[in-house]
Amino acid sequence: MPLLLGVNIDHIATLRQARYAKEPDAPNAEPSPLEAGHDALAGGADSLTIHVRGDRRHMQDADAYRIRAGVKAPLNLEMGVTGEMVGLALKLKPEFVCLVPENRMEITTEGGLDVLAGFEKICMVIARLQDAGIRVSVFIDPDLKQVEAAGEARADMIELHTGAFANATGEAVQIELERLIAAAKAGHPGLQVNAGHGINYTNIQQILTIPHLAELNIGHSIIARSTRIGLTAAVREMKDLMANYSA
Ligand code: PXP
Repeated sequence: MPLLLGVNIDHIATLRQARYAKEPDAPNAEPSPLEAGHDALAGGADSLTIHVRGDRRHMQDADAYRIRAGVKAPLNLEMGVTGEMVGLALKLKPEFVCLVPENRMEITTEGGLDVLAGFEKICMVIARLQDAGIRVSVFIDPDLKQVEAAGEARADMIELHTGAFANATGEAVQIELERLIAAAKAGHPGLQVNAGHGINYTNIQQILTIPHLAELNIGHSIIARSTRIGLTAAVREMKDLMANYSA
């Protein structure tokens, strides 16, 4: 199986909200997350990822529905473990949901979900979403106890949080990479193993040494690159770098 790429297009909505937070649906409210989604898919994205946050700071519910209706590719909804978000997911019916922790003050998702601490609620949410035909991933730190808990909670997939690796310097880089490798080995084959956060055009080479990866979710670096060469080309560049992966 080739390594798949989910492109996170939240930053397109962030840019629109910077100017049009009061009227995100106005005809002149740009840029359009839906159009960005089309551009990413034209560059070879295998799926689109959007995070509808409790505070709606970037993606709005209307964006989610527009993307769902306007795009044939699989949609991955990142969401907090809340009743409100379960309600949205059940109406939206994305192919995948990725459960993430949400903290109002954070700039982006900072740590992984603590599946152990929230076990009962997370199990319930996973089961409800799966009953509706949605495959569920949990975004976790590369911690063996969390991998085990994700399996016990009957998640379909784990998304390994690569942020600590991406932010590491010196000897810590290899240590963080080893943690990701160990977590991927622990997850496979019971759980599909995905990875995301802080992956860029440079550190992707080390990410590709992690075994058993099925999908990467990348947002910031691709959107940043798109400001230079356009989104379709930026996605194509990343896909080209991912092409030689062997699980
Ligand atoms: N995966 C998850 C669960 C995330 O929350 C994010 C950030 O929204 C990403 C992947 C993408 O991270 P980045 O924007 O650093 O590529």
